[in-house]
Amino acid sequence: MKTTLFFLFAFLFGLAAAGQKSGLFQPGERWPDNNGVHINAHGGGILFYDGKYYWFGEHKTEGKRGNQAWVGVHCYSSENLYDWKDEGVAFAVSENPESPVTAGCIIERPKVIYNAKTGKFVMWFHLELKGQGYKAAQTGVAVADKPTGPYNFIKALNPNAGVWPVNYAGELKSKKFPENLKEWSDDWIQAVKEGMIVHRDFQKGQMARDMTLYIDEDGKAYHIHASEENLTLHISELTDDYTDFTGKYIRVLPTGHNEAPAVFKRNGKYYMFTSGCTGWAPNAARLLVSDSMMGNWEYIGNPCIGDDKDLTFHSQSTYVLPVQDKKDAYIFMADRWNPENAIDGRYIWLPIQFNEKGNPYLAWKNEWDLSVFDK
Ligand code: DGJ
Repeated sequence: MKTTLFFLFAFLFGLAAAGQKSGLFQPGERWPDNNGVHINAHGGGILFYDGKYYWFGEHKTEGKRGNQAWVGVHCYSSENLYDWKDEGVAFAVSENPESPVTAGCIIERPKVIYNAKTGKFVMWFHLELKGQGYKAAQTGVAVADKPTGPYNFIKALNPNAGVWPVNYAGELKSKKFPENLKEWSDDWIQAVKEGMIVHRDFQKGQMARDMTLYIDEDGKAYHIHASEENLTLHISELTDDYTDFTGKYIRVLPTGHNEAPAVFKRNGKYYMFTSGCTGWAPNAARLLVSDSMMGNWEYIGNPCIGDDKDLTFHSQSTYVLPVQDKKDAYIFMADRWNPENAIDGRYIWLPIQFNEKGNPYLAWKNEWDLSVFDK
């Protein structure tokens, strides 16, 4: 009897310690992979290819330096979205100190898309050069023949050098902005709205920090990133092979201070979740809508309801995952960062719900499964 009880308690304790249970999403719990190790794919995104989901994200390490890239981008695969197999490091940082992706740089928010024309898997990520904090604001691209990698680094850049956004008024292109405007003064805000930072970065290329990718139904891919010192989002068209920028881009909500973009499309409308800019600390999510990717994005409001709605349930958006073979099934993926011990950051996955106007919203759930999409 004693032995049976011992094993029963050991089993129950084991379950509790292991974290998220199989067949359920438990937002904020530890999420063990096939080896029982908490998934290490932060700021991630998901590729669906040939019957499998591939989750790519920042491989974090322990302690305070854990947000720097010492390893690279980690990949996991799954057929059911609950159970994830460790596929190892898909993109590895370089040992060469001269490389832009040398160990100790910052690699954030990697996203992978498949290019049907070239048969290649293309990864883009936010890159900050080693020892320069968040100054470089570049985006990097790497390519692979298999979804799990290895991804070979091609280049990193500040995009759209020498080109104006397509939604930028002609007369502003020759505008001379006053120097030394006081940050956050009314005149400064007005100047940023009118593209002062686009002018500043015109020759070198625009800043590209938090990012995501989106492939539209016509196969065109878009790179969506926080630009202009995180004050304005830019949406840029990628070339047909997805490895470069065409030079066609728009500014979205100038001075709106949005980061953490995550895009999806439903019933012909494009939605984007973003956050405000408060470092690793959570803030209220924002929801934007547009009739096309390069169209007029409008702010609708905070998509969260209930307790902690103003902190996005203590998380920050990273991706919207359309669930295969289910109608209107989209998962909001977010990160609950842990800057003190980055590797222990948690994942907040919630089903996106739709109100009577058809607008998406998010409500907290302690646990849920994919059957919510069958109701
Ligand atoms: C918020 C961003 O969304 C993260 O990806 C990261 O860049 C942190 N800021 C750094 O403070």
